[in-house]
Amino acid sequence: MKTILEVQNLCKNYEDTKVLNNINFKVDEGEFIAIMGQSGSGKSTLLYSISGMDRPTKGNVLLSGKDISNLEDEKMAEVRLNKMGFIFQNSHLLKNLSIRDNIVLPGFKSAKLLRDEINQHADKLMEKTGITSVATHDIKKVSGGQLQRAAICRALVNQPDILFGDEPTGSLNSSTTKEVMDIINAINREGTTVMIVTHDVKVATRAGRVIFLLDGNIHDELLLGKYNEDENKSSSREKRLFEWLEKQGF
Ligand SMILES: Nc1ncnc2c1ncn2[C@@H]1O[C@H](COP(=O)(O)OP(=O)(O)OP(=O)(O)O)[C@@H](O)[C@H]1O
Ligand SMILES: [Mg+2]
Repeated sequence: MKTILEVQNLCKNYEDTKVLNNINFKVDEGEFIAIMGQSGSGKSTLLYSISGMDRPTKGNVLLSGKDISNLEDEKMAEVRLNKMGFIFQNSHLLKNLSIRDNIVLPGFKSAKLLRDEINQHADKLMEKTGITSVATHDIKKVSGGQLQRAAICRALVNQPDILFGDEPTGSLNSSTTKEVMDIINAINREGTTVMIVTHDVKVATRAGRVIFLLDGNIHDELLLGKYNEDENKSSSREKRLFEWLEKQGF
């Protein structure tokens, strides 16, 4: 397996506070990683330090073998736009644009695909996530689940190598969470590497590997193997995760 992401000796301080403390791990292409841990353990900071939204205090981040930890802001923004997709707890869509315009916008900003390709890709993504019928709607007139699906489409419009999520289902009810996670699993099966922070055990069972952060350190990790719906029905996967989390003191 090819390594897509390598984090080496990553440290992040906010003034005198050490938030991340020498983090090391590798992610293979096509993996689905969930990051769990108590509130304040550094999960969001880790995600932001990896993806260049924030800068590490020390250490290196290699994306497809290329060190991105010291890129100039403009270059970093380019890497983020072209190679990374992001979903957050709230959709962060722009209020004065339709769902469709929100989705194509990062595509038009990037020079990665032609306009026609972006439009086609956006249409396909909306179809796949079931929001075609609200494509022209104002974002104030759609449901939370539809907004989050649109956020997923927007994150994927530039065909990123890796999709990051910081509690992407944190504002959704359990049935919408399931629908959104089905979409994320499908995207992952098609080859996009996924890394999401979550507090939700059900969400974490969708990952192939779960990393547990404690006080800015990787405390342990659990290898669950690729998710498939049928296996999950037996709930053995969830049981393993629960037992492991208990061991972590979660
Ligand atoms: N910009 C900042 N300036 C100063 N301290 C910060 C900043 N961002 C985060 N911190 C601190 O870093 C620690 C880790 O924060 P982080 O947001 O990464 O935690 P988290 O694991 O994502 O928590 P949660 O589950 O509540 O989202 C916390 O103690 C937080 O107060
Ligand atoms: Mg957080």
